[in-house]
Amino acid sequence: MAEFAVVDLIRAKRDGRPLEDAEIRWLINSFTGGAVDPEQMSAMAMAVFFRGMDDRELSTWTTAMIETGERLDFSGLSRPTADKHSTGGVGDKITLPLAPLVAACGVAVPQLSGRGLGHTGGTLDKLEAIPGWRASLSNEEMLRQLEEVGAVICAAGSGLAPADKKLYALRDVTGTVEAIPLIASSIMSKKIAEGTDSLVLDVKVGSGAFMKSREDASELARRMVSLGAAADVRTVALLTSMEAPLGLTAGNGLEVAESVEVLAGGGPADVVELTLALAREMVQAAGVDVDPADKLADGSAMDVWRRMIAAQGGDPDAELPSAQHVEVVTADQTGYLTALDAMAVGLAAWRLGAGRARKEDPVQAAAGVVMCAKPGDRVTEGQPLFELHTDTPDTIARARAALAGGWEIGPDAPESQPLILDRITA
Ligand code: URA
Repeated sequence: MAEFAVVDLIRAKRDGRPLEDAEIRWLINSFTGGAVDPEQMSAMAMAVFFRGMDDRELSTWTTAMIETGERLDFSGLSRPTADKHSTGGVGDKITLPLAPLVAACGVAVPQLSGRGLGHTGGTLDKLEAIPGWRASLSNEEMLRQLEEVGAVICAAGSGLAPADKKLYALRDVTGTVEAIPLIASSIMSKKIAEGTDSLVLDVKVGSGAFMKSREDASELARRMVSLGAAADVRTVALLTSMEAPLGLTAGNGLEVAESVEVLAGGGPADVVELTLALAREMVQAAGVDVDPADKLADGSAMDVWRRMIAAQGGDPDAELPSAQHVEVVTADQTGYLTALDAMAVGLAAWRLGAGRARKEDPVQAAAGVVMCAKPGDRVTEGQPLFELHTDTPDTIARARAALAGGWEIGPDAPESQPLILDRITA
């Protein structure tokens, strides 16, 4: 492979010259192998942040990242596969009811997930609140569970797109996470390497999301959808609102309990709406003609959930851990809750112990925030608005501070806002 001087490539991108395919392939391989220093790759990430990448560069960059690792092969399964990826939000527990629901419709769901960092929770952290449940499976165990149960939610092995793991760690500490081409290639390299037939993307927009503006979220969705299509993965994206948290809980065990309510036929309306919308997209992309609403109503999604948890050592009947301390934040006036800021709730849950500041930190299974009202609800002075759950009561003052200013009560009901904002296809 041709040799390049990395500093020339950094200068080229810095000055706005698109990189050649051979340059990109060399850069990604050399960085993964250790021949490009982290400080040089950090400079490149910053140059990409400011200059972007055109579609050809992005496609080559993503393919080069995929080729640094293994690719899984689900072609031996007896049913089609569909996966979902969310760009992350507060109270976003949708994967938990969604995976068993789609499996109940006859589609295999390989949901390779991660842990949370910062104010958004990680799916694995949530499921680890269930006594006995284990996140790590070998590829053989994963395939067996997909065939026998239909759904698996487990840790992504380190073999998929190792370039991304290394690059993400740099971006995390150099202020370059938010670059749209880098997010698109990061997500899509892992999903394409995973080998799913179809993919539904939930691209969040709003205060609690990576993408704060609709324009940026649309651009991210468009670029991911075209990467998927180019790799023969049927890909569709929904743009969904993350101004307010999803559902009534933010925190690991609390979100598991809410997900089980949805599977039992109840649960908050927004969680049910988004679960069904994403399930319909996944089932349709997989070419299966079943309405997920029927599988939720007849209990078969709950059956798959129970088998999926048990297959990974969890006890679906075990009581979830409860917090040692619960404090209440009350409404200071009577009126309508007009705003509830997702970021403020996410930060409060994180400070209570539901999230981690560094990768190696533990999380509390029972910590988090329960919302007693959502925007549009009528509230009366003195009524509970939030419950703060934690095992470490010294965190409560800082959680209260995070919430202060994160909600508003006014005399008039706010206009109701749609949850699903757009649908983007190739
Ligand atoms: N999630 C990812 O996997 N990668 C990013 O760059 C951002 C969110």
